[in-house]
Amino acid sequence: MTIKPTFPDAKPVAPAFLDDVRAGLSRPQKTLSPKYFYDTAGSALFEDITRLPEYYPTRTEIGILDVRGPEIAALLPAGAALVEFGSGSTLKLRRLLRHLDKLAAYVPVEISGEFVQAQAEALSGDFPHLRVEPVVADFTRDIDLPESLAGLPRAGFFPGSTIGNFEPEEAEALLRRFGRILGAGAHMIVGVDLVKDTATLESAYDDAEGVTAAFNLNLLTRINRELAGRFDLDAFAHRAVFNPQASRIEMHLVARNAQDVAVGSDTFAFAAGETIHTESSYKYTRETFRALAERAGWTWIKVWTDPQNLFSVHALRLD
Ligand code: TRP
Repeated sequence: MTIKPTFPDAKPVAPAFLDDVRAGLSRPQKTLSPKYFYDTAGSALFEDITRLPEYYPTRTEIGILDVRGPEIAALLPAGAALVEFGSGSTLKLRRLLRHLDKLAAYVPVEISGEFVQAQAEALSGDFPHLRVEPVVADFTRDIDLPESLAGLPRAGFFPGSTIGNFEPEEAEALLRRFGRILGAGAHMIVGVDLVKDTATLESAYDDAEGVTAAFNLNLLTRINRELAGRFDLDAFAHRAVFNPQASRIEMHLVARNAQDVAVGSDTFAFAAGETIHTESSYKYTRETFRALAERAGWTWIKVWTDPQNLFSVHALRLD
């Protein structure tokens, strides 16, 4: 079955990518936005990360969703539209769907058009009675939901601790934005990774097989391909460190030697050892995340965790 996604973004993705890369590589601490990790290759590498023995969050969150699925379903209104922000593989959604038999529609919001289309079609094949209405958009900007959802109660789903990939102020603004997109009365289910010992955290982001390194470096491959970049992939290394003051894992690409790199018509100079900060993954406690959600205007309802307290799933409501 063919599903036609809607493309509500007025601005196409490519010019935004170039603008963001230029701005990020011009800063004293060079940065690249993690939202550009997820091209087709990046999305596939990310799926591989989620299956690594070191990467505990995915299997732990799935365990929580399996055990707490009936409680989560009971909390959401019947006939709701479930909007997933940054849907990726739909793996977690599928676990939740077992319990959500009264769902009216599923709305994956995803920046990677091809990926969301393929996933939506597979999902429709497996759940023929579910209305699937993909939206290809950057959820960090304002988006309009498809008009066909008018009048349905809404629930947001934001698993995977993607919230942790935003600076705390951005995370607050994002939750506030989700509230605007979903509207009053909406519910939200949010997955949030918890603070724990440094060794467990760092190995989750720097696995023995080098899959996370390949995922990080793929950002440079994407710049080379889409923005006429000249990054030499062998001249950069992957690094992941926990910063306990900021309570975040930082991923960097480290220049192995001094070099100039052209991207389109610009050139960026790197000193030996200079890094591009590509992603942060903030770790919260149950209390610090609850406080963040409340600052963003949500009423906090409940949190579920696994027996080892590795990961948390929060339920919120917009009154
Ligand atoms: N949000 C998840 C996390 O921070 C998944 C993730 C996003 C991730 N980017 C990543 C995992 C890069 C490993 C590497 O854990």
